[in-house]
Amino acid sequence: MNWWNHTLFAQQTAMEAGDMLLDYFGKITKYKGKSAAHDFVTEADLTSEKFIIDKISTVFPDHSILSEESGFDLKGSDYCWVIDPLDGTTNFVHEVPVFAISIGLKYKNETVAAVVYNPGQGQSYTAALNEGARLNDHLIHPSNIKTLSESLLISGFPYLHDDKWELSFDLFKDFYSRSHGVRRFGAASLDFCYVASGLFEGFWEFNLKPWDVCAGNLILKEAGGYTSDWFGASMPDSGDRVLATNGKIQKEMENVLGNERYALFRSI
Ligand code: IPD
Ligand code: CA
Ligand code: CA
Repeated sequence: MNWWNHTLFAQQTAMEAGDMLLDYFGKITKYKGKSAAHDFVTEADLTSEKFIIDKISTVFPDHSILSEESGFDLKGSDYCWVIDPLDGTTNFVHEVPVFAISIGLKYKNETVAAVVYNPGQGQSYTAALNEGARLNDHLIHPSNIKTLSESLLISGFPYLHDDKWELSFDLFKDFYSRSHGVRRFGAASLDFCYVASGLFEGFWEFNLKPWDVCAGNLILKEAGGYTSDWFGASMPDSGDRVLATNGKIQKEMENVLGNERYALFRSI
């Protein structure tokens, strides 16, 4: 089956939601804490989410939906849309234009269509199963850099400031000392796309969520990259421990993440 029509529908939906986000951009004065003190939700997140869910429910009334702010709407369907209506809320609140709408479609638990759209920079990353990945209609591919020591990496930190959060900084330093450096941009769905389009060679993060990883995972794989958990198994849909690379430095990154020093991360 060719899934591009679903991708195009998701892209159109994300672009319309993106216009709504831009209407709020620079005007957010109120935000609420969620799971932790630094985990925010704003009116922009909720407006974007309502628009996307309404549109999907109108066009595909039988499909299930999993969306960050409202959770599961299970309809016993083989199809499930996985939505982050605003990935990078902290950037958005601070008027940093690195944020995105992320929409993935799963069919029988396999992601088949995906969009990650950054309205702040006019960047639309799309993919459909077996059809490649694109940035604004141009095919994209990861970089050809073969060693960790020549790589630029990207990562993020968990919201909860516990012992794993502390250890995350050791890991950050470790990767920093083995590479050209590490960046932290603050929107996980875009981090996958930056690896997919060759800006970065590798991305790792602990404790992401399904809506952070669903679309980006397909975009990177369709671009020709590689995703896994931190220890070489396939990347969990939960987003618990994500490793995403250009494929060439995968083993080197797995070797660092698998070090006994980081054993604490083996449990959630
Ligand atoms: C967050 C971003 C960030 C990541 C956090 C996510 P949100 O999503 O993707 O890069 O480090 O773990 O929760 O809350 O802005 O949708
Ligand atoms: Ca997110
Ligand atoms: Ca979000």
